Amino acid sequence: MSVYEAGDAKRGQLIYEEACAQCHQLTPGLNKKGPQLMNIYGAKSAQLADFDYSDGLKAAGWEWTAEKLDPYIEDNEKVITDSKMLADPMPDASERADVIAYLSTLRAPVPALDEEGFPINDADAAKPSVATDKDEQSKPLRDEALEIPAGAENKPAADFQ
Ligand code: HEC
Repeated sequence: MSVYEAGDAKRGQLIYEEACAQCHQLTPGLNKKGPQLMNIYGAKSAQLADFDYSDGLKAAGWEWTAEKLDPYIEDNEKVITDSKMLADPMPDASERADVIAYLSTLRAPVPALDEEGFPINDADAAKPSVATDKDEQSKPLRDEALEIPAGAENKPAADFQ
């Protein structure tokens, strides 16, 4: 469902595939030239630990509402002077509204991340963080979170860059 209703999300998806998809994935943990954009609508700017943003975007500190997305998609270098996003400007306001409507449909669960940006395994997170005298639980939780099995979805996102 589209949260932002001033545009047509179906048309926005087609525009996205032409104008954005070559640089942006829609899977948390998988970045291309640009950061992945699942859940971007309403998200804090530059929040992914596994993407190396420009200083300008890191300093922006806003949320990606339609008001912020619109001028950024129109011409990102006017908004962030040292922007790393080498995308063509999109002068057509109705195309931008369609893309924003599409972005607002992109919702998926994201694994919880530890302070270094690595996914925390749910099973580990459920264990008590206080060490007890049982061997099994005496290791700090932090170590266990790092011993993640090699399943692709559990790998640190940085491996994919
Ligand atoms: C040529 C590659 C490229 C294209 C095409 C591109 N982007 Fe980007 N995008 C990037 C890069 C690189 C960044 C990081 C910018 C920075 O750090 O300054 C970015 C950042 C973003 C961000 C901020 C993400 C965040 O985590 O704060 C949004 C939103 C975004 N792009 C949307 C779009 C949309 C929508 C389109 C299509 C209309 C698009 N981009 C086209 C490369 C691209």
